[in-house]
Amino acid sequence: MKDALENLEREALSEIEAATSKEELFDIRTRYLGRKGLLTGVLRKLKEVPPDERPILGERSNRAKELIARKIDEALELCEAQSRSERLKSGALDVTLPGRSIRRGSLHPITQTMMEICSIFFDLGFSIEEGPEVELDYYNFEALNIPKDHPARDMQDTFYIDDEKVLRTHTSPVQVRTMEKQRPPVRILSPGKVYRPDSDVSHTPMFHQVEGLLVDRSITFADLKGTLEYFLHNMFGSDRSIRFRPSFFPFTEPSAEVDIRCVICGGEGCRVCGNGGWLEILGCGMVDPAVFQNVGYDPEEFTGFAFGLGVERIAMLKYGISDIRLFFENDRRFLSQF
Ligand code: FA5
Ligand code: MG
Repeated sequence: MKDALENLEREALSEIEAATSKEELFDIRTRYLGRKGLLTGVLRKLKEVPPDERPILGERSNRAKELIARKIDEALELCEAQSRSERLKSGALDVTLPGRSIRRGSLHPITQTMMEICSIFFDLGFSIEEGPEVELDYYNFEALNIPKDHPARDMQDTFYIDDEKVLRTHTSPVQVRTMEKQRPPVRILSPGKVYRPDSDVSHTPMFHQVEGLLVDRSITFADLKGTLEYFLHNMFGSDRSIRFRPSFFPFTEPSAEVDIRCVICGGEGCRVCGNGGWLEILGCGMVDPAVFQNVGYDPEEFTGFAFGLGVERIAMLKYGISDIRLFFENDRRFLSQF
């Protein structure tokens, strides 16, 4: 039995040595070590030998099994290494070629514009506050002095979610949320997405606004005008014509809107500016006392101003874009220019 074992081991090792492919090695493994394999066959005869010889023979056959298994593994590894170096030599991979370059992405022009707007106001000491896009009717309208069924609701077409919730139509609700949790002085900026069922060359159903709110003692309209002029000169340079035009918002009194000379037509009139020669970029005004009352501020003690900038409009004027919808088509030829 011992001789049989040793013969088997010797034969197996020489077959492994002679093998030239993985397939041959797999075959040897099955033939010797498989469940019906040769070595297993020898082991089965173990019960025929006298009991006192069994442990020695058992131990010997385990060693044979381990040795054969190890030699097969080593030979397989060698095969793998050889075929790898052959593949390399055959030129499938030319390591001297330059690698494929990774295309660099860039920030979306609207993101860039929003960051530029914010950084100008950071210099004036404003800090960021955020609010939800799915907003309660109360914050979007009622607390801003726009009761249900009030005609001012028609100023901003609205996506209603249910009786109490809307997709916010402007960033002004963040004014109320901030004042509810903070006492004056307040000096905040709130950038974000807003929604209205609107679509043409200067309107999209989703667009971005940046809200500003400043409340303290003895703030006047002159502070509002000075702040916005500082911003506009930094954003557009000092030679661009701007105008303040009296307007109306239920949450500010007095109110104004700011227009910028249309860059697309140079003020001659085109479809972007609706032939008026000016493009509206923001609404603003002095916070209405009714809003202060809703958040528990004393309108006798505090005054403040607020504004809401249209980010897409500012980007259009800054980069001379004649259709607002280009920002949202995700055409790489357009986006890669920024
Ligand atoms: C408002 O939304 C007010 N909340 C602004 C405000 C804030 C007034 C604080 C007073 C105090 P308005 O509806 O005019 O106002 O929108 C503000 C700006 O958003 C507009 O001047 C315009 O630049 C931009 N805008 C409005 N609708 C769209 C639209 N559908 N697509 C792109 N930009 C728009
Ligand atoms: Mg407006």
